[in-house]
Amino acid sequence: MIKGCIFDLDGVVVDTAKYHYLAWKRLANELGFEFTEHDNERLKGVSRMKSLEILLEIGKLSFDEDTKLKLAEKKNNWYVEYISKMDESEILPGVKEFLSKLKESGYKIALGSVSKNAMIILENTNLKQYFDAIIDGNKVTKAKPDPEVFLKGAEELNLKPEECIVFEDAIAGIEAARRANMKVIGVGSKEILKDADMVIEGFKNVSVDILKAL
Ligand code: G6P
Ligand code: MG
Repeated sequence: MIKGCIFDLDGVVVDTAKYHYLAWKRLANELGFEFTEHDNERLKGVSRMKSLEILLEIGKLSFDEDTKLKLAEKKNNWYVEYISKMDESEILPGVKEFLSKLKESGYKIALGSVSKNAMIILENTNLKQYFDAIIDGNKVTKAKPDPEVFLKGAEELNLKPEECIVFEDAIAGIEAARRANMKVIGVGSKEILKDADMVIEGFKNVSVDILKAL
């Protein structure tokens, strides 16, 4: 029986996936190569340093560790500049209503994101109050597709993994949920999120009954 829901943040709760993309694209362009939205799918849900590795692989470039840390910091500074201006208007459609309905129906709610910036985003958008547990990039050592972030989420909710459902927009996140032995609802396109148990386009008019349909 499902008792809790674990939400990824970027691209599921808020539209920050576009800001990650813009910041990575800006870095790629500065380094002299193109970075498309299609390439960006490979970065979703992936940690900052691993994302940089993938980006450099696309640009066929290699740098020493020190330079890589500086490049990642540069991207993050741009990203933080974008998200510092965020407010409630950037919560994705239907999300707040869905979180409220879950609460009313007695489900526990956790955040499961590997972003180190998750807390600023939850604060700027006023969403912190909905979460019984918040697992972010400062609490985990392994990024998705490793299941650590979701297993910690279940643990902090005092639930077994099989009592939790994950909402994810990333291929790496869907694999992480599977490896955590959790059901997973993909948020986005069916073509990209083929391995999810179900895919929804977004949360607009979504009823909590979907949790029973799995
Ligand atoms: C999320 C996003 C990724 C991002 C990662 C780390 O998983 O989907 O695109 O790279 O968080 O985020 P951070 O804010 O710590 O760089
Ligand atoms: Mg995401």
